[in-house]
Amino acid sequence: MNHDVVIAPSILSADFSRIGEEVRAVDEAGADWIHLDVMDGHFVPNITFGPDIVRAIRKYSAKCFDAHLMISPVDPFLEGFAKAGADRITVHAEATTHLDRTLQAIRALGVKAGVSLNPATSEHDIAYVLDYVDLVLVMTVNPGFGGQKFIHAGVEKIRRIKAMIGDRDIRIQVDGGITPETAPLVIEAGASSLVAGSAVFGRPPYAEAIAALRPTR
Ligand code: DX5
Ligand code: ZN
Repeated sequence: MNHDVVIAPSILSADFSRIGEEVRAVDEAGADWIHLDVMDGHFVPNITFGPDIVRAIRKYSAKCFDAHLMISPVDPFLEGFAKAGADRITVHAEATTHLDRTLQAIRALGVKAGVSLNPATSEHDIAYVLDYVDLVLVMTVNPGFGGQKFIHAGVEKIRRIKAMIGDRDIRIQVDGGITPETAPLVIEAGASSLVAGSAVFGRPPYAEAIAALRPTR
């Protein structure tokens, strides 16, 4: 199944002292989803924010809140993020022992379920959970920080996952090093959700930065 491309600015690269206004600004600049990078200093070597911040910024945009949880354990926190206003919750295959259970728990909360793969993780790790996911997130950097260099091996991985998905209604999202130069490569391979941190917040005006990531045809 083919989906229109959506652009999801990552607030990881926003000005955290004005986070609500930054969310409103990318919303008004044409963002489709708001990407929320949650880090725990354990699964990834950085710490960001938890459900209280998600709840606080919820009133600044009615757009889809796309929570990317880079935390382990993750199961105890799913309900908190759903109640705080996340519309989609993506977990890492590497961060939970019982991935099938975790994904079913997300759907039971009434939100869309996503599974993410680090650059070194094979697409085979998600072969048996594709019936429980709405989104597969292919990381094209090692998670933890914005502004890293795009890892090109992710393009081939997207292509393989696209084939595995077949007719299922599952989006492929890509996150890490997305710029106007790398965006066409991942779209051509099958990605339909593009996360961008520094390519949006680091390149104002935001409306032009977001437009520059969209497919031209
Ligand atoms: C990295 C995060 C990304 C990050 C991307 O761990 O998951 O969402 O914000 O930043 P850029 O777009 O700057 O690579
Ligand atoms: Zn992310």
